[in-house]
Amino acid sequence: MEDTPPTAHLAWLPFASRRSVRALICGTFSSIVHAKDASEQHVPVLTAEVLAHLELPTAACVLDCTTGCGGHAAAILADPEFTGIMIGLDVDASNLETARSRLADHGERWTGRRANFAEFDAVLDERGIDHVDAILADLGTSSNQIDDPRRGFSFQADGPLDMRLDDRTSTTAADLVNAMNETELADLIYQYSQERLSRRIARGICRARREQRITTTLRLARVVCSSMGADPTSHRHGIHPATRTFLALRAAVNAEDDVLMQLLAKAPDRLAPGGRIAVISFHSTEDRMVKSDFRRRRADGVYEVVTRKPITASPAERDANPRARSAKMRVARRTDKSAETKRDPIADTKMEPR
Ligand SMILES: C[S@@+](CC[C@H](N)C(=O)[O-])C[C@H]1O[C@@H](n2cnc3c(N)ncnc32)[C@H](O)[C@@H]1O
Repeated sequence: MEDTPPTAHLAWLPFASRRSVRALICGTFSSIVHAKDASEQHVPVLTAEVLAHLELPTAACVLDCTTGCGGHAAAILADPEFTGIMIGLDVDASNLETARSRLADHGERWTGRRANFAEFDAVLDERGIDHVDAILADLGTSSNQIDDPRRGFSFQADGPLDMRLDDRTSTTAADLVNAMNETELADLIYQYSQERLSRRIARGICRARREQRITTTLRLARVVCSSMGADPTSHRHGIHPATRTFLALRAAVNAEDDVLMQLLAKAPDRLAPGGRIAVISFHSTEDRMVKSDFRRRRADGVYEVVTRKPITASPAERDANPRARSAKMRVARRTDKSAETKRDPIADTKMEPR
């Protein structure tokens, strides 16, 4: 049994659902196994595939929408075929700071900016950049964010029920569970995670908060488990019963569907002709959004879809990095044959020093 992956017992779940919950579980597992610094804690997924699909030899400027601790960025900047520059975004100040130290040796070739990728166009405008040659978005949370109990993403250790990726925003998961009415809460849980017992869970949350406001991760986990009639310590089927509820709250707190939609909607206007967009998602709702966006734009003649089927991790990567098991990457290419020539990155983008 030593090779049994932590999610092996998910077999009872429908296939799409298994993918949806794995990312959360795998992040939680890594917290038990590792006590490393942030950049070591998060192992980037599908790195070789990202390098191969972004057409780096002809790219003058790459936009990394989700820099995290800079894993993909470090690999791209170290690729001898890539001589251009990168703009790195993240809403999490601490991750961006980790990336900044990690990528410092690349000087002006990498610029970091704390921003939501939904507003990437404003960042490009600020810097006088009309178009980029590649856009990368590696969605969700990094392992170090999930592992930190103070962020409130995990039910394995007690912490404030926060779940904000961006601490400049005001609504936390505690605000949602204590303020929404029962129907709204049930709809939210179902919409973001397809949790079958969403109505029972919402009813249980509303009952519990009448006694006392729910403000911590472990109390919420206990309330969810007892509403479901599930034993929180049993981990039947290999997953904690509160997994889906936590996933739904995280997605709602960070407006994950909405920001992805904005990114996808704005990307074609800011991709240079021939430029590529690669999106890595970790659950089925996001993957469906990416797939249908790329298909629609292909029908409009705006994109060519490079990956007819999503790219997934090799068996070796799945074994080495549990997060990679649920990763799916889709890539599209902005149509227009006219701009295949390489531009001068620095002159073209008016970069400011960091
Ligand atoms: C999966 S990690 C990215 C890891 C990174 N690619 C690497 O190789 O280290 C996702 C990162 O995206 C950030 N993030 C999530 N949603 C975001 C958004 N809407 N705008 C900007 N950053 C976001 C998170 O804070 C997190 O640092």
